[in-house]
Amino acid sequence: MAPPVLRVGLIGNGTVGAAFASALDANHERLSQRLGVRVRLVQIAVRTPDRHRDVLPGVRVHDDAESLANDGGIDVVVEASGDLAASQWLRRVIARGAAAVSANKLAIASDRALLDALARRHPLLHCEGAVAAALPIVRALRDSLDGEEIHDLRGVLNGTTTFILTQLERGACFDDAVAAAQEAGYAESDTSTDLSGRDAAAKLAILATLAWRRPVTLDEVATRGIDGNIVDVVRVACDHGSRVRLVAEAWEEDGLQLRVAPKILDAADPLARAEDVINVVAVQSALAGPLTWYGAGAGGTRTASALLGDVLAASRALVGTHTGRIAA
Ligand code: HSE
Repeated sequence: MAPPVLRVGLIGNGTVGAAFASALDANHERLSQRLGVRVRLVQIAVRTPDRHRDVLPGVRVHDDAESLANDGGIDVVVEASGDLAASQWLRRVIARGAAAVSANKLAIASDRALLDALARRHPLLHCEGAVAAALPIVRALRDSLDGEEIHDLRGVLNGTTTFILTQLERGACFDDAVAAAQEAGYAESDTSTDLSGRDAAAKLAILATLAWRRPVTLDEVATRGIDGNIVDVVRVACDHGSRVRLVAEAWEEDGLQLRVAPKILDAADPLARAEDVINVVAVQSALAGPLTWYGAGAGGTRTASALLGDVLAASRALVGTHTGRIAA
């Protein structure tokens, strides 16, 4: 008998969406064997379908993300559009009992209902790719550290600003460094989202929601970004053996404090190891003590890795394979 099919719909086919589609295409035999279910991409919704028609044979390409989210024939919706309207699509997907996988930090971090679902560990909402690409920090907070009391969390969560600051340390001028980050595919379509600190603030809001188990929205984060004036600060810091990084922090002090701002870091600070597109996250918790995650935090294939992992988690939640018995 042919194995059942889980149908995947993809919203957005830019750097991340396209990398996910080709990673699923390349790995679907292997993943299907492991899950006992065929995982098949059946639809893609994009703003300009004509540019994407021939991307993958047999996949319907159209421009109606809302109908894809509402389509009862789609079991897992992977959302990589960056569109703020995505929050309503994601809510709709979960409400009809399908699974939502999203890399869209701004949409999630602006929506209290989605954050509430994350805080409650909703099994049909997954967003590893929304924070630090494949660095497994969302799942670590959600599952591995779920029994813990988190004291504080610090991170370099925006690859674009780290890339720019690293270029400045190597002598580049600010505008050239921004252009190089765009060219490398790290920056958001509107670079001001990275430079203003809003991207890092959205990621911090998602991590704080998981760590402190209550919805923390993007607007609760005191946020300051970087501009051309940072060049002199970077040079002076370099002269003293220090580094400037855009640091996202959450800590308990008369309630939960949340801040994103450029900071001068001592060379011994684990966050100072962030170079180019590397993200670093450091967590202090009651039992585990200090923990640090380090790795590439942006880019198509890096984020596609996180989306694939989330599709597997979502598929298992839907088909219940994780409840299989272990032989005695
Ligand atoms: N623009 C984001 C960054 C992409 O630079 O970190 C990954 O979320």
